[in-house]
Amino acid sequence: MKLADNKATLSFSNGSPSVDLPVYQGSIGPDVIDIRKLYAQTGMFTYDPGFLSTAATQSAITYIDGDKGELLYRGYPIEQLAVNCDFLETCHLLLYGNLPNEAQKKDFTSRVTNHTMVNEQMQFFLRGFRRDAHPMAVLTGLVGGLSAFYHDSTDINNPEHREIAAIRLIAKMPTLVSMAYKYSMGQPYIYPRNDLSYAGNFMRMMFATPCEEYKVNPVLERALDRIFILHADHEQNASTSTVRLCGSSGTNPFAAIAAGVACLWGPAHGGANEACLNMLEDIQRNGGVAKVGEFMEKVKDKNSGVKLMGFGHRVYKNYDPRAKLMQETCNEVLQELGLENDPLFKLAKQLEKIALEDDYFVSRKLYPNVDFYSGIVQRAIGIPVSLFTAIFALARTVGWIAQLNEMIGDPEYKIGRPRQLFTGAERRDVLPISKR
Ligand code: ACO
Repeated sequence: MKLADNKATLSFSNGSPSVDLPVYQGSIGPDVIDIRKLYAQTGMFTYDPGFLSTAATQSAITYIDGDKGELLYRGYPIEQLAVNCDFLETCHLLLYGNLPNEAQKKDFTSRVTNHTMVNEQMQFFLRGFRRDAHPMAVLTGLVGGLSAFYHDSTDINNPEHREIAAIRLIAKMPTLVSMAYKYSMGQPYIYPRNDLSYAGNFMRMMFATPCEEYKVNPVLERALDRIFILHADHEQNASTSTVRLCGSSGTNPFAAIAAGVACLWGPAHGGANEACLNMLEDIQRNGGVAKVGEFMEKVKDKNSGVKLMGFGHRVYKNYDPRAKLMQETCNEVLQELGLENDPLFKLAKQLEKIALEDDYFVSRKLYPNVDFYSGIVQRAIGIPVSLFTAIFALARTVGWIAQLNEMIGDPEYKIGRPRQLFTGAERRDVLPISKR
């Protein structure tokens, strides 16, 4: 963080003295005004619900230029990572800041694969859930539950504990997600196989049964790996900020990541992929492509409460670069499975075409986000809709940990404690119950 040559001056119309505020520059992106001393200097807070203009941290991990539609992990464009790297290389990049060479990749892969099993006792923990529980409810519990099983990696202030917790979480998430799925199906759990790729192992744990061996389809394996890469990090989004805030109290990494899983569940965030597919299926049931116009009228009517799920983004005011890559993967997967005429895909294309030409969307800079196509790909692979957000959580885990570890290593880190503008009752006395 570099001090800029200029300062910001805040002046008041009531004659209070103005204050100078330092300005800092990052390597790219907007400068920030440092308001940390504002309260001490003026007795005032800033007000920014939804963090529309507030940088809560400095970070060197992920950069987004929402106007350009650019996403960089540690400086590398997502388009290059998605084509040239696999998910574990991307994890190495996010965690340690550099793409691994061959020896580093081998070492990292072996460290992750050595942790893919979970304590056998986790099965009994899982059994306490109803079989029809939402996978995100189960996953929130299982991830938080890890802190009860791995006591040697719960001290957030110990770098070795943080490192081992990071590896454990990346390694165990696919096992936990597939266990949650198998439990919901009433099928036996399938143990991990470390000779398969990260995505291939996950597919086998999801779809194999003890009755016959499962053969991983390389096109689908690559598609899933790409979904993981595209969802791996996205700077200070709601769930990542939740992980940081939760971890800022010094809680253990498993508890902080469980908080991230819980936040991701919401339909305005990670839950959008599930909501998007439910929306497409709903339109399909009620008349399909012929009813798209009618549906779009509802979306544009503020009183209807209907949103075009998979469209719009707080930061991207241009095409989400991940959506472009996902659309490409979607074509490949549907072609591989002979599903080019899949009605939901056609419907999605039709919705996208109308939205990109409609003034409502154009004027608000609403473009497809990654969730618009990822649901169709996951559905084609055979992943049930209710599991989509859990897949997102699996992929985002590395980003959450990288961000958490970055925060703990930042000398400026403090417990997160937002302030408020109080609008409630002023001081009053409690009356005896007979007089209230
Ligand atoms: N459909 C219809 N209208 C929309 C949509 C949408 N999907 N998204 C935004 N708008 C409208 C808003 O109503 C608002 O209109 P107004 O200016 O007339 O009041 C305007 O566009 C700006 O939208 P905001 O809600 O203020 O934007 P915000 O940054 O707060 O919200 C969000 C972003 C939550 C992603 C929103 O676009 C949305 O709900 N989209 C659908 C859900 C979704 O796809 N979420 C996934 C996000 S990506 C991710 O988490 C991986």
